Amino acid sequence: MSGAIRQQRAPAAAPRDHGMPPSLRAAALKGLSSENKTLPPALFYDAAGAQLFEDICQLPEYYPTRTELGILQKHAGELAAQVGPHAALVEYGSGAGVKVRLLLDQLQSAIAYVPVDVSRQQLLQVATERAAQYPSLRIIPVCADYTQPLELPVVPGAARRVAFFPGSTIGNFHPTEAAAFLRRVRHTVGNDGGLILGVDRRKDPDILHAAYNDSAGVTAAFNLNALTHLNRDLDGSFDINAFSHLAFFNDEASRIEMHLKSLKEQRVQLAGQTFHFEAGETILTECSYKYDETRLTTLVEGSGFTIDTLYTDSQDWFWIAWLRPTTPVTA
Ligand code: AVI
Repeated sequence: MSGAIRQQRAPAAAPRDHGMPPSLRAAALKGLSSENKTLPPALFYDAAGAQLFEDICQLPEYYPTRTELGILQKHAGELAAQVGPHAALVEYGSGAGVKVRLLLDQLQSAIAYVPVDVSRQQLLQVATERAAQYPSLRIIPVCADYTQPLELPVVPGAARRVAFFPGSTIGNFHPTEAAAFLRRVRHTVGNDGGLILGVDRRKDPDILHAAYNDSAGVTAAFNLNALTHLNRDLDGSFDINAFSHLAFFNDEASRIEMHLKSLKEQRVQLAGQTFHFEAGETILTECSYKYDETRLTTLVEGSGFTIDTLYTDSQDWFWIAWLRPTTPVTA
């Protein structure tokens, strides 16, 4: 592993409220104060929520993880050929990072692997593991929130930068945010780079519904865990049993919406503020956009990329898209 972790942003000011980042606290309080209540999906991912998400990925109803893995297994060689020799591979949101291994195994002449993640602990672990697995690769971990603008280190000797953003996490961005993110990636990879993007496809609403309403109730627990997280970190008084999980496909917006529904009229204390809920009122906690080719093309072409190749599975449920830059980057 080369050098220490690059820290993109100054460490946050002294943590308040048991360590919740001030920006997340502010977003939660603002969302609960709005007419149509919302909570940021980042609230799902405390330690318990990260484990619940791992559990979701193993559920029979939750097809995206295994489907994307299957596509990668089948097409890793072709993707490596698209990436070409002597590349630096940048992974946004590297997490536990198992998918990237399928690529790195094929990218034998790659110069560097640059995992970017906000979780310092996980990043260090992944960097250490990859350094042991790929001794000839420079591993340059960058600790940063990739949803914000960031400058990545220049890798001497790298022929090009290629970004990797798997997991259909692009679906958790609203379309304008997704376009802004892709434009930043486009700027980062430059005119010679590329992007390997995991995208969940629009499909039969029953399949989508089952994926977000699993019979074991793991997705419900994941959704409700946002309230447990708030209770712990912002001195909240949410009664978890007084809310229920609600997930459905919004056809017009082409997205799964996850909500928490108040089962009665109630008042909740949070960070010294009081929030009122009507019986039946919901908090929107996550959107997961599902793309068809028209929507994907609009997104990609509005961001300075073009779709070169779409790799899919036998059921046409998921894409791994190989995107190449079109327009030259403007400063
Ligand atoms: C992380 N993201 C791609 C998942 C999704 O499917 O939108 C998060 C998730 N929410 C409920 N289940 C999984």
